[in-house]
Amino acid sequence: MTADARTANSPQAGRQRMIVPAPVGICGTAIPNPEPELLARLDAGHVMMMGDNPALPRMPTKPRLLDFFRLRFQHITARHLLTSAAYALDAGQDEKVVLACLLHDISNGCLIRVDHGYWGAQMIAPYVDEEVAWAVRYHQPLRYFADETVGYRYPESYDRFFGPDYVPPDYIRRDADHARGHRWYMTARLVTLYDIYFFDDAPMPDAERFTDIIGRHFREPEDGLGFDNSPTAHMWRTMIWPNNFL
Ligand SMILES: [Fe+2]
Ligand SMILES: [Fe+2]
Repeated sequence: MTADARTANSPQAGRQRMIVPAPVGICGTAIPNPEPELLARLDAGHVMMMGDNPALPRMPTKPRLLDFFRLRFQHITARHLLTSAAYALDAGQDEKVVLACLLHDISNGCLIRVDHGYWGAQMIAPYVDEEVAWAVRYHQPLRYFADETVGYRYPESYDRFFGPDYVPPDYIRRDADHARGHRWYMTARLVTLYDIYFFDDAPMPDAERFTDIIGRHFREPEDGLGFDNSPTAHMWRTMIWPNNFL
């Protein structure tokens, strides 16, 4: 993307820019969809949000992976990802495992929670080793099933999240079965082992700890994430401009 194209998305001067929330975030909730009301308000002084939202920190023109951690991700997700990766690193795990831990819930940072492993795997696939994307995808189903051989138990947090009687759906069971028989099983399993929730105020691990591993295993595109025309560039752009009307 050229600088001109980026400028074209800059503030629509003097007009109030209105935000319609993403359907997936309000469908089925008590949050009313403001779209009809906002459409009715369109006039010379009111337009829909497009481009940089001044309420968000501005992203660099060529965003790199850690820019999303710093400038877009929900604090709780950024801390969770950095902490998981730090645990894997401190345990001496392979760099691919560390990277998979760093990226495993990336979809929850600023995109979508539903089926987050599947979305996240797709988002990072053009930039990482296939094994890393595979581990991100399959950590989601494997989280529901214990593996005592590595000391992984069904998460106590899941009992609290979903209730003790929760039964995962068939596709989760099917995909966990598939993962168990796969040569990369242990990569995804190790992600689940370091997938620990931290709801306390533990300090955020320093993201710079992972700069070298990212440099060795994450192919940062020259034009920046979102602008490299990869099959998933739109997902990164969605996180750069999460409030765009279209
Ligand atoms: Fe996850
Ligand atoms: Fe996680």
